[in-house]
Amino acid sequence: MANGHSTADRAAGYPGLQGAVPALRYVASARWLHWITAALMAIVIVVGIWIKYFEPADEPFKMRLYNLHESFGVLVFALALVRLVNRWRHPPPPLPPGTPGLIHFAASATHIALYALLLLMPVIGFLATNAWGFPLTVFGVLPMPVPVGKNEELAKLLSLLHLSGAIAVVMLIGGHLIGVVYHTFVRRDGLLRRML
Ligand code: HEM
Ligand code: HEM
Repeated sequence: MANGHSTADRAAGYPGLQGAVPALRYVASARWLHWITAALMAIVIVVGIWIKYFEPADEPFKMRLYNLHESFGVLVFALALVRLVNRWRHPPPPLPPGTPGLIHFAASATHIALYALLLLMPVIGFLATNAWGFPLTVFGVLPMPVPVGKNEELAKLLSLLHLSGAIAVVMLIGGHLIGVVYHTFVRRDGLLRRML
């Protein structure tokens, strides 16, 4: 059964290495957290673009979209913290044998930058919302503190940072996906299976 627990299963992605590699997949918690984060990011980015560039005319609906974007963003932040603790407790499996050093470096740099933005984007977005004068109640039920008061200059700066971060995160996700495609179709080293 493809549950990752048998030796055959664990060696499946790496022909010729049966028994030589101790664990070839991320632990289940890391896999779940990765895919939940990916789904939330898709929602956060699509809704972010929607509210900013295709602003709905219906004011209450627009406010609901803002709240959805912001609340899911806060959830992404919390999940990123949980993931980092979980990663420290269960370090990722070693990369497929023979992965070139440069690829290894590029993958690590992308992952570090992604984690940094998963933490920074919600903080910047949250402070921006405060500075624009809109306190956040997560999903309409959990009121958040208001660390900065209304301040238009600061709000503009934070919104610019939020936009720059959004562009960076979309590019990083693009790079991340190119990496997965490269491993799957060029190197054919079964890397994707580590996260499935
Ligand atoms: C990982 C988390 C997040 C991502 C990837 C993200 C991404 C985006 C994107 C792509 C946009 C549209 C482009 C732009 O104008 O910046 C946007 C807009 C916006 N986001 Fe986020 N966002 C995140 C979290 C948050 C959070 C937690 C808040 C507030 C609590 C927030 C508040 C806003 C606001 C108010 C806008 C409207 C444009 C503006 O005034 O800056 N975002 N976000
Ligand atoms: C369809 C979309 C995606 C696919 C197919 C995918 C696939 C993968 C795979 C195969 C890995 C393991 C890489 C390795 O073994 O070294 C991975 C790791 C990772 N992915 Fe994704 N991913 C996707 C979307 C995302 C998104 C949207 C984000 C966040 C914005 C993300 C963030 C990460 C991070 C931070 C890691 C490193 C995990 C760690 O080592 O702790 N991924 N992804």
